[in-house]
Amino acid sequence: MKKALITGITGQDGAYLAEFLLKKGYRVYGTYRRLSTPNFWRLQYLNIFEKIDLIPADLVDAGSVIEAISISEPDEIYHLAAQSFVGASFEQPIGTGAVTGLGVTRVLEAVRQLEIKTRVYQASTSELYGNAQETPQTEKTPFKPQSPYSAAKLYGYWMTEIYREAYGIYACNGILFNHESPIRGLEFVTRKITNAVAKISLGIEKKLPLGNLEAKRDWGYAPEYVQSMWLMLQQKKPDDYVIATNETHSVQEFAEKAFDVVGLDWQKHTKVDRRFMRPLDVNLLKGDYSKAEKKLGWKPKTRFEKLVKIMVEEDLERWQRWQKGEHFPWDAPLYPNEMKILTRSLKV
Ligand code: NAP
Ligand code: GDD
Repeated sequence: MKKALITGITGQDGAYLAEFLLKKGYRVYGTYRRLSTPNFWRLQYLNIFEKIDLIPADLVDAGSVIEAISISEPDEIYHLAAQSFVGASFEQPIGTGAVTGLGVTRVLEAVRQLEIKTRVYQASTSELYGNAQETPQTEKTPFKPQSPYSAAKLYGYWMTEIYREAYGIYACNGILFNHESPIRGLEFVTRKITNAVAKISLGIEKKLPLGNLEAKRDWGYAPEYVQSMWLMLQQKKPDDYVIATNETHSVQEFAEKAFDVVGLDWQKHTKVDRRFMRPLDVNLLKGDYSKAEKKLGWKPKTRFEKLVKIMVEEDLERWQRWQKGEHFPWDAPLYPNEMKILTRSLKV
């Protein structure tokens, strides 16, 4: 039986990847970190929590990363753990560097020192392109980070290349464009919108505050994207791949379509709130996935409108169940409508 270790198994991608690998017959190990409130809801929601072997590890603690790899002796490591929220990286640039950047080196260095024969997937990102120098973006488009998050990811990208070339470690960068789902974190704009649309249509919330409505993203469906991670580790040689839909839509379009699903006018229920603007933002992302299609046989199936519909309908159904008094693992009920947040980095 093949063994896989997933760092960040409690996150969106970690949970879907675990589900996918279990179906493929893998023994799945996952790292989790100590939190004051346990965060296993995604694994429970997907009904896979009992099937996973959990290992405590924090990316800032190199010893715990070494321990996780030596306990699991994995054939494949999927390094997904990171401080992954771009907005928060402006508030915690040093912490983001320590976790999202140096965390990659801790994983690669553990593999090197333990002399373990394993394949490594690094969760690289379309954020690396920043305000991109060409559209659509390919594996050859130059990088120009626009946030502390993407600068940390750029370091991780290059360390992955360096360990591949210097030590012959099979390591791949998956340059994944935004991918979303009903188990996406609530602070990311897509789920923030679909959760609010569901609540507004049921009378639980009044207005949805948003930041930059003009930003355009290439949004795909997360359960399809995690399959590409596995495909990258099944090839003869390690390489880097763009995973995207080659379509781009603005935040405003996402909000319009989401309110359409419940028959409401987005303009009546949203307001621009400068607290959600970033000191620097990426204007437009659109990825050319033709290399992945040719070499991995991967292509996206779920397109923009379908994605929006899936997310709104699942949030709506969950709030309806909640109103009937049903209890199930889910993040939204504990998340407040409004928060009084003060930071200097926000453009107020
Ligand atoms: P996510 O939902 O935010 O999950 C991040 C995971 O990292 C969580 O399990 C989190 O644990 C863990 N983590 C954070 N800090 C940690 C630390 N110090 N030590 C150990 N674990 C830590 O992110 P995602 O959307 O699944 O994304 C997965 C990866 O792909 C990330 O590296 C992200 O940057 C990258 N990526 C994502 C996208 C996207 O659109 N989703 C696109 C390109 C690249 P807790 O649950 O304890 O917080
Ligand atoms: N989060 C958020 N909240 N974003 C908003 C809001 C809001 O209220 N209003 C507008 N936006 C804009 C952001 O300024 C950004 O331009 C865009 O919506 C998308 O923001 P996020 O959903 O937070 O995602 P992201 O694109 O910054 O980052 C995600 O995708 C990257 C891949 O390109 C994350 O998953 C990263 O980890 C990932 O690397």
